[in-house]
Amino acid sequence: MTRRKKIYEGKAKTLYEGPEPGTIVQYFKDDATAFNAEKKDVIEGKGVLNNMLSEYFMTGLGAVGVPTHFIKRLNMREQLVRACEIVPLEVIVRNYAAGSISKRLGIEEGTAMPRPIVEYCYKDDALGDPLVTEEHIAAFGWASQQDMDDIVALALRVNDYLSGLMYGVGIRLVDFKIEIGRIYEGDFQRLVVADEISPDSCRLWDIETGQKLDKDVFRRDLGSLTDAYTEVAKRLGVMPKQANPVSKPTLIN
Ligand code: C5P
Repeated sequence: MTRRKKIYEGKAKTLYEGPEPGTIVQYFKDDATAFNAEKKDVIEGKGVLNNMLSEYFMTGLGAVGVPTHFIKRLNMREQLVRACEIVPLEVIVRNYAAGSISKRLGIEEGTAMPRPIVEYCYKDDALGDPLVTEEHIAAFGWASQQDMDDIVALALRVNDYLSGLMYGVGIRLVDFKIEIGRIYEGDFQRLVVADEISPDSCRLWDIETGQKLDKDVFRRDLGSLTDAYTEVAKRLGVMPKQANPVSKPTLIN
């Protein structure tokens, strides 16, 4: 068996060269990190859940006409995606206040935003992904004004799709982060939703109880992260209702 070429290892995923030119294999690890990797753990089964959930969201987005890098899921931990050049921004959409906006502006968590708010952070771990404005983005050439218009339109379409999907299973989409990729086709470039969409990159609260079903469970030590992600997967029908994705060997007497 030939060893495949590793292209990049991130905090939660490893990228390998894909079987065809212009393709990449995304491997979902079980590693969880928070606060710019100051807090770390290995959460058994997280990679499997995020792979399945990201496939589900990306496929659904594709079906409603939102372009993504997703091609197909290969196995429990890997998916094949189109290679793209990642725009060095984390694009965040907020429907309710939580996390950094609550801290920064003193808004109580759970407060509804007057309208979905789009924010950008410059992707740089060493700097802790600082919040930037469109002015910085244009001036430093991270994306053009036309790109920014397309990025906002993409982010809001993802928000509409995900909010509706989640509402249908009793979950509030509080906020989420996406990454955007450029794919070159001849003289043209297309912007697509890249990376992953999973409970690692969204805030998801049960509408009835307010229970957190996302990475805040890990960030804030609120219980089992796999239980939370499994609950999301079960509600969406991504996992059979009884399935336990990380079942341990059971002693049978
Ligand atoms: O931390 P903050 O409140 O700005 O996060 C907003 C949203 O973006 C959350 O859903 C969080 O999970 C996501 N996020 C992310 N990766 C980052 C920063 C934020 O997925 N590096």
